Amino acid sequence: MQIKVDRVAKTRIQDVDFSNIPFGREFADHMFVADYVDGKWGGFSIQPYGKMMYTPAMLGLHYGQTIFEGMKAYRNANGEVMMFRPMDNFKRLNVSAERMCMPTIPVDLMMEALRELLKIDVAWVPTSTDSSLYIRPFMFATDEFLGVKPSDKYRCVMFTGPVGPYYTTPLKVMVEDTYTRAAKGGTGSAKSGGNYGGALYPTKLAQQKGYHQLLWTDSIEHKYIEESGTMNVMFQIGDSLVTPPTGDTILKGITRDSVLTLAADLGIDVQERRISIDELKSAYDKGQLLDAFGVGTAATIAPIELIGYKGQDLVLPPVAQRKMSQLIAKELTAIRYGEVEDKFGWMVSMN
Ligand code: COI
Repeated sequence: MQIKVDRVAKTRIQDVDFSNIPFGREFADHMFVADYVDGKWGGFSIQPYGKMMYTPAMLGLHYGQTIFEGMKAYRNANGEVMMFRPMDNFKRLNVSAERMCMPTIPVDLMMEALRELLKIDVAWVPTSTDSSLYIRPFMFATDEFLGVKPSDKYRCVMFTGPVGPYYTTPLKVMVEDTYTRAAKGGTGSAKSGGNYGGALYPTKLAQQKGYHQLLWTDSIEHKYIEESGTMNVMFQIGDSLVTPPTGDTILKGITRDSVLTLAADLGIDVQERRISIDELKSAYDKGQLLDAFGVGTAATIAPIELIGYKGQDLVLPPVAQRKMSQLIAKELTAIRYGEVEDKFGWMVSMN
C-alpha cells in the first residue's frame, strides 16, 4: 500500500497537559484517510488532523451508515509502544461493516496504516500508567444522494489522541425498564453510531435522577441485563464472575473477552449466562452481590457503586473491598505496560 504523507508544519503537542488528560478531547497531529470508490479502497494518506469537507447531502449524515472502533496503545516499562489486540478491533470493524451494509477493509491494511500513523505521532503516546493513546478508526458513507440505499462510496479515517480514564468516579447506574438499546435481529452488536445516538435520551433521563449511566435490559421483558452505557458489564456473585452472553443485542467487547480470559486463568469461576434483575436483587438481599463493574476500551474496568432499580438503590460494597475485580485489573494493567509476561499474545509492537 502506498500512503501519501503530508506532515504538519508544527506539532500541537506542547499544548497538551500530559499530567491531566481528559478522555476524548486531545487529538494527535495526524490522521489516516482512505476512500472506497468503484468497489475498492485507495487514496491512502496520512495528513494533518483537521476538518474534512462534505456537502449536506452526504449519505452517512442522513441514514446512519457510520461505524467505529475504539482501541488503545500503551508505552510499556521499556519505553516501547504496544497496541492492545489491534487485529481484534479491526476484525470487529468489519463485522460492524457487514451488518451496516458497508465494505470491509483488510485488517492488514489497517495495521500497516496504524503503524505508520503511530511512527509519525509516537510522541503523543503517554507514559503514565493511567493514560494511553486512544485510537479511533471509523467509516462513513460519502455518496451525495438522498435515496435510502447503501452508499457506493465510503471514507475510512483513523485518528488518535492521548486519554486518561473515561470514568473518573465509581458509577451509579440505573436499570432501564422502559427504553431499549437493542432488540433481537437489530444492530446492537454492531459498533454503529445509531446505537449510541438512540441511547442518549434515556441516559439523559437517568442522569436527571442522579445516575451516570444505564444498565440496559432485554427489549422483550426488560428482565435480563444486557450491557451498560459505553461498556459490557460484569458481576461478582459469591465467588463467581457472571456476565451476560454476547449475541445480536450485546457488543462483543474485546476488554470483556480479555477480562473473562484473565479471570479463568486466575482460577475464578466464570459464567457467561443470562442474569435477571430478580437474580441480582436476590443475591444483593443475601449479601452475595459483591461487585459490579463495566468493561470496555475507554472505560477500562469501571467500578459500579450502586444499581438503581424501581426507585431502590442496591449499594454495593466499597470499591476498596473488591478483591476479584482489582486482581483482574492489576493483571490486565501489568500485561498492557509490559510488567508481566504477555501469555495470551495480546500486545503487538508498533514496529
Ligand atoms: C470504547 O470503549 O472505546 C468505546 O467505543 C466506547 C465509546 C463510545 C467511548
